Amino acid sequence: MREASVNLVTVGVFSWARLEPEPGRYEFGWLDRVLDLLADNGIFADLATATASPPPWLARRNPDSLPVDREGVRLWPGARQHYCPSNKSYRAAATALVEQLATRYCDHRALAMWHVNNEYGCHVAACYCDRSAEHFRAWLRSRYASLAALNEAWGTAFWSQQYGDWDEIVPPRPAPTWRNPSQELDWHRFCSDVLLELFVMERELLERLSSGVPITTNFMRFFKPCDYWKWAEHVDFTADDLYPDPSDAATGARERASAADLMRSLKGGAPWAVMEQAPNAVNWRQRNVPKHPGLMRLGSYQSLARGADGIMFFQWRASKAGAEKFHSGMVPHTGTATRTWREVVELGTELARLDAVVGTRVSADVAFVFDWESRWALELPSKPSHDVTLMDQVAHWYRPLWERNVMVDFVHPEGDLSSYRLVIVPNLYLVTDAAAANVARFVSGGGVFVLSFFSGIVDEREHVRLGGYPAPFRELLGIVVPELWPHGDDELRHVRLGGERYACELWSDWIELEGAEAVATFEDGWLSGRPAVTRNGSAWYVGTRLDSAGMDELVGKLLAQSGVAPTLAAPAGVEAVRRDGDGRSFLFLLNHGAQEATVDIDGDYRDLLTDGERASQLTIEPFGVAVLEAMLRVR
Ligand code: GLA
Repeated sequence: MREASVNLVTVGVFSWARLEPEPGRYEFGWLDRVLDLLADNGIFADLATATASPPPWLARRNPDSLPVDREGVRLWPGARQHYCPSNKSYRAAATALVEQLATRYCDHRALAMWHVNNEYGCHVAACYCDRSAEHFRAWLRSRYASLAALNEAWGTAFWSQQYGDWDEIVPPRPAPTWRNPSQELDWHRFCSDVLLELFVMERELLERLSSGVPITTNFMRFFKPCDYWKWAEHVDFTADDLYPDPSDAATGARERASAADLMRSLKGGAPWAVMEQAPNAVNWRQRNVPKHPGLMRLGSYQSLARGADGIMFFQWRASKAGAEKFHSGMVPHTGTATRTWREVVELGTELARLDAVVGTRVSADVAFVFDWESRWALELPSKPSHDVTLMDQVAHWYRPLWERNVMVDFVHPEGDLSSYRLVIVPNLYLVTDAAAANVARFVSGGGVFVLSFFSGIVDEREHVRLGGYPAPFRELLGIVVPELWPHGDDELRHVRLGGERYACELWSDWIELEGAEAVATFEDGWLSGRPAVTRNGSAWYVGTRLDSAGMDELVGKLLAQSGVAPTLAAPAGVEAVRRDGDGRSFLFLLNHGAQEATVDIDGDYRDLLTDGERASQLTIEPFGVAVLEAMLRVR
C-alpha cells in the first residue's frame, strides 16, 4: 500500500460474521491488528459499520429478518444484503454491532471516517413482507393523517379501490393488472425513506459515540430506488461507486462525467469521493471487458476534474474464493508484476502531486433539473409510451453539452436556480406547484429555460394537471399540447430546424402556439407543418426526441441565447474542466481519443504531473491527461 501511495482504506464492509461469530460474542482482535498496521504506516481507515451482510445466525434465529421480493419469494442467506429494512431484529442486531464498533474504535489513530452499511438497496431495494406492509401503513398514516386523505390522493374511487381500514392497505404486491399508480409512487418514496431510516439509525449512534468523525455511505450514481436529494442531507460528504462498462468507453466517459456532476451537485458543489471503482475488469456483467491501458487513469482524472477529492478502488487484493474472485483488485491474482499494479502505483504517485487541487470547486452555468419522484412516476406502467425513461432523456441532453465542454450541475426542481444562465429540464413528468413557481421565477429573472416533452403532466399524487399539457408551464411557454403522439416501434419522423432536416424518434407532441414561435416544425405525417420546437422569449419547449445532429443544433441555439461559453475550445474528444479555489485555478485536460490531441492555450502554466512549464500548445497522448495550474487566459 505504501508503494502505491495508498492513504485511505475501506475496512470491514462485509465482516459482520467475523466480528460477531455468534450473537453477542465479538472478535475484534483481527480488526485491531489491521487498524494498527494501517496507522503504523500512515494510512487512514474508512471504517465500515459492517451491517450490509448479516451473519447466518441472524436468519436462523429470526427468519423474519429475511427480505421477501414482490412475488413473495423469501431471499435466503448465502449472498449478501439479505435483510428486511423494516425488521426489528435486524435493526437491533445492527445497532448492537455499531455500538460495539464505535465505542471500540472512536479514538483509533487510523479512523478517518465511517462507512455506513454499503450500497443501500443495491440488491434489495424493497421488501414486501408483512412487517414491511405494517411499516408502509405507518408511513402512510404520517403522510396522510386520515384515510379520507389517502383515498383522495390515491384516486381510489377508480376501480373500487376505496380503503375503509388502514389494515386493508398492502405493498404493491402482484395484482391482476396495473396497480394503483399513486400507491406505487408512495411505495417508491417509502422504500427510499426506509433505507434512509436505517442509515440515520446508524448515523445517530456514530454521532453520539464517535463525534466529529465524518460519516458517509457509498451512493450508486443515479440509482433509481434511492432519492439521493433526500439522502445527501444526511451524509457529511457524498461518495460514489463507479463502474462504467469499459466495452463502451465513449458512453462510459459520459456516464462517469454525469455521475460526478450529480455527486457534486447533491451537496451544493462540495468535493466528493470516488468510493469504489474497478482497477480493471468487474465480474458481474455478461461479458467483463478489461480496462485497456490508461483507461483507469483517465477515469480517475475525470472524477477528480469534476470535483472529487479522493479516488478509491474496489478492491485491494483480488480474492481467491467467493463470488467476486474474478473482479479485479489493485493486487491481481498474479501479484505485483502486472500492468494493473503498475498503473495503480503510477496513479498513486501522481495523485500525491495534486494536494493543491483538494478543496477546490467546479462551477457551472447550466443546470439540469433532475428528480427521483418524477422518474418513479414517469416509469410506472400504463403510459402513452413505455419507451420514455428518464435516464435516456438525461443522457440524450447531456451528450452535446459534455462534448462541447460546457459544465453542468444537477438541481432539484425546487432547488436554487438563480446562479445559472440555462436550465434544462429533460422530462419532468411530475411537477409540484413549488417547482413550477421556481422555474417561472428563473425565467422572469431572464434565464433561458428548456423543457422537453411529457413534462408537467401530473402533480405529486400522480393526478393529471388538467387544462392542457403542460399545464403548469403552458403560459410560460406560450403553447398548449392537446394531444400526445408517441411513435410506433422504431418509427422515425422528421423536423425542420434552422433550415436543416433532422430525424426524430420516440415521441411527438401536437403543439398549438399561444404566443410562442415555432423554431422547428414537423415534416411528415399528420403533424406535418405543426410546431416541434417552440420558443417564447427565453422559454423553450421541445416536443420530440431529436436525433444527435438535431440536438447539437438545438443546444447550440440555447447556449447562444444564454451566453454560456465552453471551458475551453478543445479538439473533439478532449474534455476540459476547471477547478478553482483559494486564488488558484486548475485546468484538467482529458484526451478520450485513441489519437494524440493538441490543445491551444494562452498564457503560462505549470503541468502538475510533469512539473514542466509550458505555453500556448500542449500535446496529450491517447487516453492521456494533463493537470495545469496557472492564471490562465484561455483562447
Ligand atoms: C459494489 C460493492 C462491492 C463490490 C463491487 C463489485 O460496488 O459495493 O462490494 O461488490 O460492487 O463491482
